[in-house]
Amino acid sequence: MNMVAPEAGSDRPDLPPAYRLVALDSVDSTNEHAKALAEEGAEDGTLIWALEQTSGRGRMGRDWSSPPGNLYCSLVLRPDCDLATAAELGFVAALGVGDALGQLVPPMTELHFKWPNDVLLEGRKVCGILLEASASSEGALDYVILGVGLNIASRPPSDQVRAEPISLYEVGCGPDVTPVSVLSSFSRHFLVWVNRWLDDGFAPVRSAWLNRAKGVGEEISVTCGTGGETLQGVFSDLDPHGALVLDVPGRGFVTVTAGEVYFPAQAE
Ligand code: BTN
Repeated sequence: MNMVAPEAGSDRPDLPPAYRLVALDSVDSTNEHAKALAEEGAEDGTLIWALEQTSGRGRMGRDWSSPPGNLYCSLVLRPDCDLATAAELGFVAALGVGDALGQLVPPMTELHFKWPNDVLLEGRKVCGILLEASASSEGALDYVILGVGLNIASRPPSDQVRAEPISLYEVGCGPDVTPVSVLSSFSRHFLVWVNRWLDDGFAPVRSAWLNRAKGVGEEISVTCGTGGETLQGVFSDLDPHGALVLDVPGRGFVTVTAGEVYFPAQAE
């Protein structure tokens, strides 16, 4: 007879003392909830985590499907920097996710970053990051909400527009890999990278991200902004704040600060 082992671990994540957890069964969007708390003065390190979201949102005004079984969390951050510099936190978070997944997924699983802030396993999207910032009219940053959605038990169906999704279970993670274990690991690795960023700036983050980025030196397409012009060229670099530098034939180097990257379809 098959015995089913009880799920390992507790139902609360093990977080570094830098974070204060607000755990919810269900919420419209952890980013929205974090924003409301930040407006009321929630301190840096307030971490909202929900088992499901009823109106999860992604970049470019898209929905983020959020059934139970996956990770949905948002951190309130109050770094002492300007808006452009705060955008670097998306890359810091991607590195935290990458290091956490490196310890959770089977060895040899391919892990890459996709500009600006996606994390891919086996070339498919496992994690999306949504940064939302609030600044005064003079441009001084008040807070940043860093939202992380990570497919563990399930993933949305592919829609031909976004990067093909994948879940941790699909790459062979077992039932011990849960939202609690992933959040515990992410929070530790993110803290290491955010401290590195605070101490040494974007340079080490940029080079670690570029080391595992998909498509650098290769031909890609980029739709600029939300549904703007689509450019084709070689993904040449990240600029000092994380904008994508594209070498476009006939135009030279074009710097893209927001948009969606598409990789050419691989030959079968
Ligand atoms: C993307 O489009 O790739 C970003 C997706 C971000 C989804 C997460 S889930 C937790 C947090 N709350 C939200 O409503 N969105 C982010």
